[in-house]
Amino acid sequence: MIRVLEQERTFHLITARTSMILHAMPSGHLISLYWGSRVEDDAFSCIAKDLKRASYLSGTDGIKNFRLEQYPVLYPSWGNPDLRKPAFQFSYEDGSQMTDLRFFGYREYQGKKKLEGLPSVLNEEAQCLELILRDSISGVEVTLTYGVLESYDAITQSVNVTNGNQVAMQIERLMSGCFSFLEDQYDAITLNGAWARECHENRQRIRQGSFCVESLRGASGHGQNPFLALAEPGTEEDKGNVWAMNLIYSGSFEACVEVDMHQNTRFMMGIQSFGFSWRLEKGESFVSPEVVMIHSGQGLGAMSGSFHRLYRECLLRGTDAGRTGRKSPILINNWEATYFNFDKRKLLELADEAVKLGMECFVLDDGWFGKRNSDESSLGDWTENRKKLGGSLSELAEEIRSRGLLFGLWFEPEMVSPDSDLYRSHPEWAIQVQGRPMQLARNQLVLDVSCKEVQDYIIESVDRILKEVPVSYVKWDMNRNITEWNSCFLQKDRQKELGHRYILGLYRILEELTGRHKDVLFEGCAGGGGRFDPGMLYYMPQIWTSDDTDAVERLDIQLGTSYVYPSVAMGCHVSACPNHMIGRITPLSTRGLVAMQGNLGYELDLTSLGEEEKQEIHRQTDLYKQIREIIWNGKLYRLKKEGNERAFLYISEDGSKGVVSFVQILAKPNTVPKRLKLNGLKPDALYRVERVGETDSMVVHGSFLMNLGLDLKRPQGDFHGEQWLLYREENFSTCHTGE
Ligand code: GLA
Repeated sequence: MIRVLEQERTFHLITARTSMILHAMPSGHLISLYWGSRVEDDAFSCIAKDLKRASYLSGTDGIKNFRLEQYPVLYPSWGNPDLRKPAFQFSYEDGSQMTDLRFFGYREYQGKKKLEGLPSVLNEEAQCLELILRDSISGVEVTLTYGVLESYDAITQSVNVTNGNQVAMQIERLMSGCFSFLEDQYDAITLNGAWARECHENRQRIRQGSFCVESLRGASGHGQNPFLALAEPGTEEDKGNVWAMNLIYSGSFEACVEVDMHQNTRFMMGIQSFGFSWRLEKGESFVSPEVVMIHSGQGLGAMSGSFHRLYRECLLRGTDAGRTGRKSPILINNWEATYFNFDKRKLLELADEAVKLGMECFVLDDGWFGKRNSDESSLGDWTENRKKLGGSLSELAEEIRSRGLLFGLWFEPEMVSPDSDLYRSHPEWAIQVQGRPMQLARNQLVLDVSCKEVQDYIIESVDRILKEVPVSYVKWDMNRNITEWNSCFLQKDRQKELGHRYILGLYRILEELTGRHKDVLFEGCAGGGGRFDPGMLYYMPQIWTSDDTDAVERLDIQLGTSYVYPSVAMGCHVSACPNHMIGRITPLSTRGLVAMQGNLGYELDLTSLGEEEKQEIHRQTDLYKQIREIIWNGKLYRLKKEGNERAFLYISEDGSKGVVSFVQILAKPNTVPKRLKLNGLKPDALYRVERVGETDSMVVHGSFLMNLGLDLKRPQGDFHGEQWLLYREENFSTCHTGE
């Protein structure tokens, strides 16, 4: 809901549990008055009345004691009395860099419009507010668009710039979201890591100065996710205030928090400004990506719950996306089973075992095209290697399908190998600075996806195969970042547009291919989680969370990822032991338990398993089929997330079923039995509790499970896992509260 108050100068954006209040001061400067738990009043401008005390700041508009720098400016500019870091910066033909935006008016409408060329949250019920700002001297108009998704407790923001000048102008910086707080006591929570250890939670106290997470890689990257949350110190899973932003964008980004001289905090997120600039011709407009802003007054669990529901219902698309009808199959992927070394016989043997073990889709990974038998050639040459495949790709796919499995295929379309026909015929298609050597990463170069011809080549090459071959699933990989930032196709004064144009080009490709092949489930991948962001999720409703398949490392990767992204978006596989990446040996049952926290798959040589291992895998696929709806669409409770133990509980949407998973990482001698307390249940409802793998069950109240908990077994070694299923008894007789 949006309420316009105080002579149409205060805007109260209201969701089920939160309020965001924005205000246009008499001077026309917009300020942010409040964002937090829902408030009901109708007059708020008084909050800004007394912000006049600081000294040594520049005056504003000649108004006595009015110094802009003390105010929580909503969308701050550069070249005026507010000398903190601005949310945007434009430069003009005369060399000046000043833009003086003042409130011009507003518009309200229902239903979120699709952003031109960019992914965004979509929801017809959303209330939208456009705040229009103008610079009367340059003629530039900036519109801040807010989407209020009431039942999701989410607010979105994007920014539109229109050049009303008579000549071209340059956008040097443009944040998508900006909010200022009149306080400075916050922890910054970010998701950091590297290849094979993505998205670890990182929490640190912010102090006066700037704190930033960002990417300059041309992709959101393994190192920092485009997510940043500010939390009151002491905020935990189920208590405390937290304010989060997540950018729906897959390229270089920045997220910054500045604590200023007067204990105020400015929080911003958008496209990375370093190396970015965009020429806007007279009359043209530029739209920023969208940022999702979520406040929770009930801790991190509720923050994640809002992100999860919003993304499941308003972001993930494609046949299998969203709440209803999702049928992400249990996969067998041949990558860690064979790497590049396979032939038709081996693939079919794997498929035969996969069917027997209850899997549903066979994914042929890297190495099926060109002459690719290592990572040294053929990216860009998307023609089947008939010799290696023992016939055509279609024949192989049909043989796999005749066994009752769907067929999936790996692509890495944004890349080119120097040793490829594509590169030999189009060397200029690679991103490069002509006359300088090109650096290789994984022996490959990045195609200039900003160029329409390159986009069309990618669309046609992938489309051709998807038309010819019965493919139900595509794994879309991207295995290196951009180094020599330069395009052979952009004019020299537009080179700084490359990063954003690349992402717009990628989105065009994905829009086209996912539109043409609505029945295909696309999975995103960038050497694992190198582009795990809501931009990719809009087109590809699941992402390969990490190349690291070690169950212990995965516990924390998936835990961090779950702060923002729902489990239905995570690809999680069981692989062989010792783990190929770090050599760790973990029980197969624990590997299964961990991989069941997302979309379960397997990538190991099923043909070399012993009978007991096969039985265990069969048990896992059977169990997963029983619980996957709860994992995909249920509410997540992170019961234990630090130290030596991890525990997760998913409760189905209607509250009638639950899945509890527990892992003790290292065994400890001389301990006494402990219990695992649950959360989120109805205290006076009765639940039947089944320990997975045992036939006995018990029936107890929710209050018992939440206060006394489940008994944990004595671990028989490291990496010990346990699982339980909960069923709410329909005819419980005690009176109950809640709901
Ligand atoms: C990347 C992916 C892996 C696999 C290989 C194939 O590393 O993340 O899962 O597909 O490429 O080359």
